[in-house]
Amino acid sequence: MKKLIIEGKKELTGTIKIGGAKNSVVALLPAAILSNGKSVIYNVPNISDVDKLNEMLKSLGADIKYENDVIEIDTKNLKNQAISKEHSSSIRASYYFMGALLSKYHRAVISYPGGCTIGSRPIDFHINGFKKMGATVKIRDNTYTITAKKLHGADIYLDFASVGATINIMLAAVLADGKTHIWNAAREPEIVNVASFLNSMGAKIKGAGTNSITIEGVKELNNGIVEVIPDRIEAGTYLMIGILLGKDLIIDGVIKEHLESVITKLKETGAEFTIKGSKIYVSKAKHLTAVNLKTLVYPGFPTDLGQPMSTLLTQCEGESLFEETIYENRMRHVKHLNDMGAKIHLFDNSAIITGKTELYGEEVIATDLRAGAAMLVAGMIAEGTTTISNIEHILRGYENVVDKLTKVGAKIELVDD
Ligand code: EPU
Repeated sequence: MKKLIIEGKKELTGTIKIGGAKNSVVALLPAAILSNGKSVIYNVPNISDVDKLNEMLKSLGADIKYENDVIEIDTKNLKNQAISKEHSSSIRASYYFMGALLSKYHRAVISYPGGCTIGSRPIDFHINGFKKMGATVKIRDNTYTITAKKLHGADIYLDFASVGATINIMLAAVLADGKTHIWNAAREPEIVNVASFLNSMGAKIKGAGTNSITIEGVKELNNGIVEVIPDRIEAGTYLMIGILLGKDLIIDGVIKEHLESVITKLKETGAEFTIKGSKIYVSKAKHLTAVNLKTLVYPGFPTDLGQPMSTLLTQCEGESLFEETIYENRMRHVKHLNDMGAKIHLFDNSAIITGKTELYGEEVIATDLRAGAAMLVAGMIAEGTTTISNIEHILRGYENVVDKLTKVGAKIELVDD
């Protein structure tokens, strides 16, 4: 177990370079097995989820070359095998092997996926989608055996615009017979990134990025190439840190369009920053005012930035109402923020945050990945020293976080427990 020790209130100057998006790369890696040739993935972030997915790919026989931020995957020795329980339960994105293996081999054996405990997180939309395409699903001892003599196109309506189900159904449909239509598809930029990768292999996917996606099945997929889009959640987190502590801080490598809801909401608080091309220039705000915030599916305010944003709201004058609408259990960081001096009243999945409050260094826990980000922001602005334990969660999603922050002036250290 590792801990982060942060000495707060340090001014931040310089440039933070944003890495590739976690929630893209975790789908791109399993998608690579669909190629009958080689795939190259550029701008891969240095996060532990990538290492875990590489292990899973290797367990299937994939040859992997990983140098700097480029991964080359050769599938010539690939064999369909069960993904071990240990692997599947280690991260959420292991579920993308369901769609990918089913598509390629018409059989996938894999246990229930792991990931942050931020809600019940069922996978019924994924499973119903596979069934509509002709698959049979048996569940025993938490292990899913998904088989199909033949996969055929289908009309699939998602009851909720789920990111995972949209991608998993796309993976299953690219090699199916005929046309699949996903209605009420999720529109997150990560889905467009995955569709581009599959199309580079020869898939025929149209409409990714809208709520209506069509996939015309093809016979086979060949060499693929893709660049992972910048991580909009990492960028949003550092932008918030910049608003609280920056002095001419530059967040570099941002796609502004992916962050519209976040940029608009942050400007509403009175934060001042300018965007030129792919760079955001940000300095500490003179005065921040309370705003109401509700997390929603894209292009709404992302749930993955709700927790760090709630830390920023503790520094806004007045009462903010913060509502989390995607997950039932994404407020566990609130107790720790209150321990640090915040005034947050929690009811169900909503919180009233009264600011501005001084935060003080404490021993806190990263209860999940984005709770960890909330604690990181809190520790950076707190008076004194904050120790965050369980930071394995943070390392799953924020590449080289200690180096990136130290380089711009933070006092932050990673220590073994
Ligand atoms: N849902 C169902 N049934 C399903 C699928 C989803 O009820 O079959 C519900 C979920 O329980 C949740 C909502 O639908 O309440 C949205 O879930 P979604 O499927 O969109 O989320 P996900 O695919 O499990 C991905 C990211 C999450 C991110 C969400 C929303 C990955 C591996 N995970 O999760 O990332 O919060 O989309 O954008 O891509 C994170 O990075 O911290 C994180 C949790």
